[in-house]
Amino acid sequence: MARTIIVSNRLPVKVQRDSNGDLQYKSSEGGLATGLGSIYKDGDNVWVGWPGLYFKDKNKAQKAEVTEKLTSENMDPVYLSESEIKLFYEGFSNETLWPTFHYFNQYALYKKSYYDAYKKVNQKFCDAVLELANPDDTIWIHDYQLMLVPDMIRQKLPDASIGFFLHIPFPSFEVFRLLPWRRELLDGVLGSDLVGFHTYDDMRHFLSAVSRICFIGNQQGQITKDRRTIMIDSFPIGIDYDKYANSSAAPSTLSKEVKFRTSMGDQKLMLSIDRLDYSKGIAARLEIFDIFLSKYPEYQNKISLIMVVVPSRDTVEKYKNLKEEVDLLVGRINGKYGSMNWTPIHYFYRSFPLDDLSAFYRMADVALVTPMRDGMNLVCKEYVASKLDKKGVLILSEMAGASKELSEALIVNPNDKHQVVDAIYKALTMPVEEQEKHMAFMQKAIKKFDIHHWVKLFLDRLNSVKEQQKVMGTK
Ligand code: F6P
Repeated sequence: MARTIIVSNRLPVKVQRDSNGDLQYKSSEGGLATGLGSIYKDGDNVWVGWPGLYFKDKNKAQKAEVTEKLTSENMDPVYLSESEIKLFYEGFSNETLWPTFHYFNQYALYKKSYYDAYKKVNQKFCDAVLELANPDDTIWIHDYQLMLVPDMIRQKLPDASIGFFLHIPFPSFEVFRLLPWRRELLDGVLGSDLVGFHTYDDMRHFLSAVSRICFIGNQQGQITKDRRTIMIDSFPIGIDYDKYANSSAAPSTLSKEVKFRTSMGDQKLMLSIDRLDYSKGIAARLEIFDIFLSKYPEYQNKISLIMVVVPSRDTVEKYKNLKEEVDLLVGRINGKYGSMNWTPIHYFYRSFPLDDLSAFYRMADVALVTPMRDGMNLVCKEYVASKLDKKGVLILSEMAGASKELSEALIVNPNDKHQVVDAIYKALTMPVEEQEKHMAFMQKAIKKFDIHHWVKLFLDRLNSVKEQQKVMGTK
């Protein structure tokens, strides 16, 4: 039977060692794992990826235990060595590609040793797929960590059905061209039959890079390379709407909400939830809250910011520095405004189970989602899906892919701090009927274009590209 083989750097399950060295299995963070988490278990589908830790030779038994457990749950683990994690994951993926693609190119490191490891690890993922793949299978590769994999597979399986989706922004040509390995990266992705992005602008930037670097033009997103047609298009990812709506109505969520509310008293609440990342604009958001409290002093003692920061990539230097900056800023603002019975910022540096998050979403009068740059951002969609009574206001950065769909939110430029401050004031004073109207409109869109719709849209499109290639004899 034909299957879908999902390939991504991280598996949806993260394996960790506790302080005794025993293994723990947790859900992975980030949009990709949350987005596709419910799909790979269907039928014989399988997810190829890294379980998030390395094993020394003496841990062979533990490694076998992990393999057995993951395999029984439709996952095929690809193991990385300590040095591959350093050079491929922390290095090329997160110190070269991530900053460049998020327009933080001043943070990017261009090291040949990083690229060599990236190529080697991409080959490792390719080999894992080749071991599994049957001719009828669909191979769906995800994200910036694996840009060389499509072409590596194509070289071995010329007829394979290969899709690639980028979950982060694709930068403008002027930024992308800074990468010494720009040509190799594009050739790698173009091994696919269908290449997907979150937004029309990401797609446009990619096509412009293909035209300027590979000298290949396009016709309405269709390009021809080595006599093979490849389709490029945008597919904005959705969330599992029902999961968030149902969780918001669950008794465990309601009792947590009562508990949290009782401890926080009757005040306005603003919420922000992110992975620790400089692209998320966490430090700027804290400065914005500081300006808000001094510009609108009548809100002192009357509003708190619940700020959840989920630990991420904390072995990478820029992330370590950011953690220190955020800790300092929170301390400074709480010290400046706080009183015996009011804490301006409730800061949590950890992840939370879904019913806690749902309780936060339910309680929040305002969600402040202000990344400097974000492929899509799913937190804003989760907030909207959780607002069963339709009361609440979303403030959303125009630099998040989601802003193209959620035009009923208060859209802001995160660099314009005073604009965001005034948007907070506007959100806090918005009449309830207006809140309900905007929320209902956004809920309708997010419910319709949910994660199931997204998966089907991408895979159906990949099928039709393959059909078209056969008809035209251009595979
Ligand atoms: O959604 C973007 C993404 O980079 C995913 O590829 C990744 O799994 C997630 O964010 C979390 O990042 P990491 O895997 O580095 O913890």
